[in-house]
Amino acid sequence: MIRRIGIDLGTSHIRIYVPQKGMVVNEPNVVALNAVSQKVLAVGDEAKAMLGRTPEAIIACYPMSDGVIASYKITKQMLQIYLAKILGRLRLFKPEVIINVPVGATSTEKKAVLDIAEGLGAKKVYLIKSPVAAALGSGIDISSSMGNMIIDVGAGKTEIAVIALGDIVAFSSVRYGGKKMDEAIIDYIRKKRNLIIGEQTAELVKIKIGSSITQKKDLKMEISGSNTISGLPESIICHTNDIAQAVKPVLNEIILAVKQVLQRTPPELSSDVMDKGIVISGDASNLRGFDELMTKITGVPCQMVEEPGLCTIKGIGIAVDNFDQFEESLSWRKN
Ligand SMILES: Nc1ncnc2c1ncn2[C@@H]1O[C@H](COP(=O)(O)OP(=O)(O)OP(=O)(O)O)[C@@H](O)[C@H]1O
Ligand SMILES: [Mg+2]
Repeated sequence: MIRRIGIDLGTSHIRIYVPQKGMVVNEPNVVALNAVSQKVLAVGDEAKAMLGRTPEAIIACYPMSDGVIASYKITKQMLQIYLAKILGRLRLFKPEVIINVPVGATSTEKKAVLDIAEGLGAKKVYLIKSPVAAALGSGIDISSSMGNMIIDVGAGKTEIAVIALGDIVAFSSVRYGGKKMDEAIIDYIRKKRNLIIGEQTAELVKIKIGSSITQKKDLKMEISGSNTISGLPESIICHTNDIAQAVKPVLNEIILAVKQVLQRTPPELSSDVMDKGIVISGDASNLRGFDELMTKITGVPCQMVEEPGLCTIKGIGIAVDNFDQFEESLSWRKN
């Protein structure tokens, strides 16, 4: 009998935590649908493999965009499939759900998450602010009066928060993350190298050879797409520093947001942050040199957590397992 489960509804990944079992789902947040009937054909890895390759009768898409629900109906259908797998189809017992929302989410965006989870039969739905979950997952004692700062770089957004006494004191949430980096790479390669590449290629080249800063050690990768003029297939060699150049505008937006949060932080907490350093999470922070870049622009030592992409679901898992202790930091629908 599962009393309570945790869900990290991310832009690129959905992760689900079940007590005693741990993370039971960690899949791309992608759904493939029949274009006419809207029936779900595949979710997760299977659906992601179809992205950019579908015939007219099939649509493969991300139901989340920039950290918030872009398609209510598709997100609900996808969650229904995962929950049926975890809880079984005939559910006599309704679990409570703890699910994250971006710290900058509007009340409409929060309502959409509540409506979906309640619509799927959750007994009660608790919302946890994503940076609070990420801080918990990184091992930070969020209830302490000492200030802690976290930067979470996800696929759809970067959230920066200073946390003390169980809640957020200063924050910024910007819609710049791994996906915007991929778009910036597509743009750069098209303009500078006359090659049109797909999203999956852009993501792969970013992961394989990309960097946040110019690197002395250059890595190379062959990438393929179509020539902008002839439209014919073509391959080029792409370098680490091409990617560093391409993602610069996205990183500049993140840097701006980090600086704003530091400026908004009360002096006592700033001094704590100086002492303890800044924690970095989110899978997009795996881009080479990201911690180095953050240390340089803030003047504060910045350290990445282990398994940065799993930090948020680990934190949600901690809240699920120690519910009484964290209930205060959660919100729910007040009738
Ligand atoms: N080694 C890597 N180097 C650079 N980027 C990476 C690496 N591994 C994964 N990423 C990027 O990290 C992003 C996914 O991060 P994460 O799983 O934390 O996001 P999410 O939780 O789904 O999204 P969000 O929190 O924004 O809603 C993707 O854009 C992916 O391309
Ligand atoms: Mg995330």
